[in-house]
Amino acid sequence: MSGMPDKSGHLKAVLAIDGPVGAGKSSVAKRTADALGFFHLDTGAMYRCVALRAMDLPEEKRADPAALQRIAGRARIELPEPGVVLLDGEDVSGAIRSEAVSAEVAIVADDPGVRELLVHRQREIGMLRPTVLEGRDIGTVVFPDAALKIYLDASPASRARRRTDQLRAAGRTADYAAVLAGLLERDRRDRARLQGALRIAPGARIMDTTNLDEDTVVALLAAMVRDHPVFAAACQTAI
Ligand code: DC
Repeated sequence: MSGMPDKSGHLKAVLAIDGPVGAGKSSVAKRTADALGFFHLDTGAMYRCVALRAMDLPEEKRADPAALQRIAGRARIELPEPGVVLLDGEDVSGAIRSEAVSAEVAIVADDPGVRELLVHRQREIGMLRPTVLEGRDIGTVVFPDAALKIYLDASPASRARRRTDQLRAAGRTADYAAVLAGLLERDRRDRARLQGALRIAPGARIMDTTNLDEDTVVALLAAMVRDHPVFAAACQTAI
């Protein structure tokens, strides 16, 4: 069913952006959504919310599928404005980006039951209005019937370079070789996942951002959306 319209024959007014860590998905997805007046859903933030709650569990329970699925089923995750994530009413926008959550989140994302629950919610959110969704499995699993699917890629070296620069700009110490090794390990894990693994979705357009600046990527994506008949009525603003 990948890349196919739904039973009613309609493609969804969804821009699906998948790709490896550090390819610039979050920033590009957010800016493209802003430019188009679309909703932006960072699906990684949802897995991170479940991981944050899982850290309250005793150590030996943190990989327990039943416990993780209970958390995923109960967590009230809201995205009231760009960049803000509320978990059960509490602003966790900063907390879900901590190193501790980053280290814990792969276990959560590996769990098929957790994925099923979160994918269901992602579909509900994406159906409400024109949406830019970003993650690993948007074009393959969440919205195989998205009107436009993008696989955002860049060389490992340039991804590691950008990430190192970002960390240093934020006042953190960052060693390029260590950042590159961490990124390759996250790639391996993202690609090896039994469900929702990172893949190029059928019908996806591959954009290699190694030699493209962010403004160019956003402008290209916004133009693709505007040129697409499924989005025509949904586009509100111009960049
Ligand atoms: O994009 P990110 O680093 O915030 O994602 C956090 C984790 O969730 C990472 O381990 C990849 C995983 N993820 C996923 O499996 N599927 C998605 N659609 C989004 C993120």
